[in-house]
Amino acid sequence: MGEVQAKVLCHIDEIEEGATKGFLENDAGHDLFFVVKLDGRLFAWRNACPHVSGAPMAWRKDAYMDAKKQHVACHAHGALFEPDTGLCIQGPCLGQSLAKVPVHVDQAGMVSVLITDIN
Ligand code: FES
Repeated sequence: MGEVQAKVLCHIDEIEEGATKGFLENDAGHDLFFVVKLDGRLFAWRNACPHVSGAPMAWRKDAYMDAKKQHVACHAHGALFEPDTGLCIQGPCLGQSLAKVPVHVDQAGMVSVLITDIN
């Protein structure tokens, strides 16, 4: 069996507390997924709104939170999601969830994803 490939994203300190950071931007400028940092813990979600099949969610680079910085927001039609569970709690996709991306933090604080988790 071959070695599992990981992609290093950044250091955990490069993501501000209560903020989000997007990764693996495509040619259209949309991130493949984004990471939320809450109480020092990381949660990562596909940048694909469940309301409109795979619609990108940020209104500008790395801006995935609502104005109150309490929920992840889809800026297309205003859906709000819990940042730690990905569950939509308000908006047109109420009750649906964002797709989780497993992220790993090593002892040095480097954040990575497995290639198999982002294909
Ligand atoms: S595409 Fe996200 S709320 Fe409509």
